Amino acid sequence: SENFVIALDGGSGTGKSTTAKIIAKKLGITYLDTGAMYRAVTLAALEKGLPAEEGAAMDELLSNLTLGFDSENHVLINGVSRESEIRGMKVSSNVSIYCALPSVRAAMTKQQREIGKKQSCILDGRDIGTVVFPDAKYKFFMVTDVKVRAERRYKELLEKGEKVTLEEVLNNLVERDRLDSSRATAPLKKADDAIEIDTTHISIEQQVQKILDYVGVVA
Ligand code: C5P
Repeated sequence: SENFVIALDGGSGTGKSTTAKIIAKKLGITYLDTGAMYRAVTLAALEKGLPAEEGAAMDELLSNLTLGFDSENHVLINGVSRESEIRGMKVSSNVSIYCALPSVRAAMTKQQREIGKKQSCILDGRDIGTVVFPDAKYKFFMVTDVKVRAERRYKELLEKGEKVTLEEVLNNLVERDRLDSSRATAPLKKADDAIEIDTTHISIEQQVQKILDYVGVVA
């Protein structure tokens, strides 16, 4: 049978990655966490002390950066797992600035398309259904009340031992959504033909089931 793509977009903290991981496992397809790629570029730039304005230096950084994922889907930067660092608040507070650069988006979009063309895939992100795979067979757009998102993410970070307040987490989600929705290149936006799923009042299992209901019939 033919390869297919599931595009799963939505704002920060809507539960996309948790849902996508489970679906990938159930369907036996590849999961690509595109946010992790933008987070990795951001971490690399921050470690070099490189401001987003330095276009030429950013281009050089991109051309020397090899991203990958290990078998547990942890992001690898030049072969080294940097999973915990990319999830911290430092990267979360800067990623929406770096990922808005056209050069960064072009480089990541190219890699995402190469991966998605080779195999059946579920990709989660902000611009998968609109820009990366506008012809994806299935498109979903997740929305969740921002307070619910902040509480879920806050709990996750506390469990990982990160020192944050609920307010910081909430402000970060709101600010990232604001920057992601208003950038010129590939803004966060529901594709016209995407199915919207409101996850405010439903469990992860129910989110997964909703998507499987759409996909299962045809897959
Ligand atoms: O999905 P996650 O919240 O980990 O993504 C981190 C950030 O990466 C987002 O806030 C957004 O700025 C950026 N991103 C993006 N396009 C994608 C995926 C993520 O701009 N496809």
